[in-house]
Amino acid sequence: MPADSFVTIINNPVLLNHLNRVSRKVGMAFTNLASLPEMDGDFSPSMIVFELEREGALQEIKEWKERWPGYFLAASVTALDRERWIAAEAAGCDLVANRGALPRLLRKKLEAIRDGESLVPGKMRLRAKPVLNPGDGLVGRLPDNPDDPIVVFRSGEDYYAIRDVCPHAGYSLADGEFDPETCIITCSEHGSRFNVDTGERVRGPADYPIRTYPVILDGDEIYVEVEAA
Ligand code: FES
Repeated sequence: MPADSFVTIINNPVLLNHLNRVSRKVGMAFTNLASLPEMDGDFSPSMIVFELEREGALQEIKEWKERWPGYFLAASVTALDRERWIAAEAAGCDLVANRGALPRLLRKKLEAIRDGESLVPGKMRLRAKPVLNPGDGLVGRLPDNPDDPIVVFRSGEDYYAIRDVCPHAGYSLADGEFDPETCIITCSEHGSRFNVDTGERVRGPADYPIRTYPVILDGDEIYVEVEAA
């Protein structure tokens, strides 16, 4: 598969036609697959596009992003589901868009890739504002992160940063109850539970996991690694 290729895993024939046309205009190789091939050394697309309604999509996003962090990953949404949309972004999707808007949005991205630009954002470190707390629990906040507020919890010697938005109804998770033994945060509003280490949803009503970020300690300062805008 050529390095500058555009891979889709799309069943919808109308969307597929539109994407095919876009790739012809941009002049990039275009391949539609039923699923991604076994991960071998030859597989090196520049962009992967798939349907978010696809079974197991959220788990796949995580796996693909870990496997190929340099690729641009885009999802088409047919039925608007806000929680799922947010969960896709949290899992690492670079672009989530309605099916009708996606081909137009992708054309610019593909042109940029063709012209040698990298669309995958770099990383930057942001310093957390300390929260006075001598022990375990909430120890830092990043209220001005460009994407979303982030909060940092401590359990012993370990620190965990999460997106401070409950995927159920958007309330702050920092207001919830944190158990340092299990690393579980319980949302104060309706009781959803999440593991702050892995982001895993442990109990509903939320249907989706939360986003986590790497934490870097430098002396007494707490830094969180986020994507550069
Ligand atoms: S807002 Fe968190 S459980 Fe409802």
